[in-house]
Amino acid sequence: MPDQARSFPPDFLWGSATASYQIEGAVAEDGRTPSIWDTYSHTPGRVLNGDTGDVADDHYHRWEQDLDLMKEIGLQAYRFSIAWPRIQPNGSGPVNQRGVDFYSRLVDGLLERGIRPVATLYHWDLPQEIEDAGGWPARDTAYRYQEYASLIVPQLADRVHTWTTFNEPWCVAYLGYGSGVHAPGRTNGADALAAVHHLNLAHGLGGQVVREFAPSAELSVTLNLAVIRRASDSAEDRDLQRRMDNLQNGVFLGPLLSGAYPDGLFEDTATVTDWSFVQDGDLAIANIPIDVLGINYYNPMLVRHWDGVSPKQSADGHGDGSASPWVGIDDADILPMPGPYTSMGWPIDETGLSELLLRIHREYPGQAMMVTENGAAFFEDVDADGRLRDVDRIDYLFRHIDAMGDAIDQGADVRGYFLWSLMDNFEWAWGYERRFGIIRVEYDTGERIVKDSARWYAALIAGGGQLPPRDVVG
Ligand code: GCO
Repeated sequence: MPDQARSFPPDFLWGSATASYQIEGAVAEDGRTPSIWDTYSHTPGRVLNGDTGDVADDHYHRWEQDLDLMKEIGLQAYRFSIAWPRIQPNGSGPVNQRGVDFYSRLVDGLLERGIRPVATLYHWDLPQEIEDAGGWPARDTAYRYQEYASLIVPQLADRVHTWTTFNEPWCVAYLGYGSGVHAPGRTNGADALAAVHHLNLAHGLGGQVVREFAPSAELSVTLNLAVIRRASDSAEDRDLQRRMDNLQNGVFLGPLLSGAYPDGLFEDTATVTDWSFVQDGDLAIANIPIDVLGINYYNPMLVRHWDGVSPKQSADGHGDGSASPWVGIDDADILPMPGPYTSMGWPIDETGLSELLLRIHREYPGQAMMVTENGAAFFEDVDADGRLRDVDRIDYLFRHIDAMGDAIDQGADVRGYFLWSLMDNFEWAWGYERRFGIIRVEYDTGERIVKDSARWYAALIAGGGQLPPRDVVG
């Protein structure tokens, strides 16, 4: 920890993030049709406690109150996502103006409050009909996505400060089609890799739409890059680390930032697919220049080559033979890491964040970045006096923001930080049990309670980016 209070550049953007299905509710209103997450969450056994996004935070109706809270905290930017099935119900046909109007009001409401809108075009709510026609493993989905982008981007255009084509394509491809723990819940390695490629292609196709209709907005994509540490320096561990890095990081960074898949990737996954879905010209499309790379960071991972004989220690639940997201890699043993942990069971280790930002800085010199997600879930409750003293979250944020500052000091061009999340919400397969918000949501009444972490974050922003002590809460 630095002796003096850490400070950040004056133009550094402090924001917070959410995603449509996690907060909006109103799933059948104003023309919206089901997405794969509606189908998945309504399938028994898929989501903890049978939770669904039907109501969620009811943000669709309470958005003005939520914007007021953002202003109260002093947010300078807000990262939200647009639900495709609100804009183009059933995934085909003309624009649904009522769906557009919701986001248009939201964007205007942000601008009126001096908050920059950062819009993600796809945070996982694929119209069900497009999944039924093949989903992301089908090439046509990339073109359907481009059509969807061309319906919404012109309507919000430069009122949006930054357009993000995708949130975490890794999760879309590998959790949606590989391990099946996310919608649509399919488990086929070849499909997962085809999805990866079509997401890369769609990023470029959507990016073209942003460039055409929102020429002064910034173009971005958000990746959940992994920080993969190896248990030893053995040749086997090094090779495992290389293959895993290709599969999670290089498979997106390569096409998007360099126009090529990483060396060794095709050979390493040859038993899964022949990659014949990569067509001439695709990589040039995927390689559309972006203005800023979004990075989501939660924790690092520790891996060891598995000899195939001794019991696996796997901390990811894949020691039991259930489908793994590590398509084509059979020898990965993901080791438990020392605590403390968040309520997701994720180890708290902020050094991975600076490591990751510095890696991008080193490998892609001059690449501007934003931390588009970082935050933590804890089991917590409101005290008798009505306050929620989430000291663990404040400590997590303090450490990670400080680590980001370290990376900036060492040259990384990081321009903003978006805390995940503005409010408690539908945490995908974990339903409502895991709370990431700096605002608590009482799901039975919809009431919002500003947590101490929000007050701490407000103090940071009000102080011009000077990292306040952990016990400053407003
Ligand atoms: C993701 C999504 C968020 C999650 C968050 C916590 O990264 O999975 O962007 O929607 O809620 O990351 O898991």
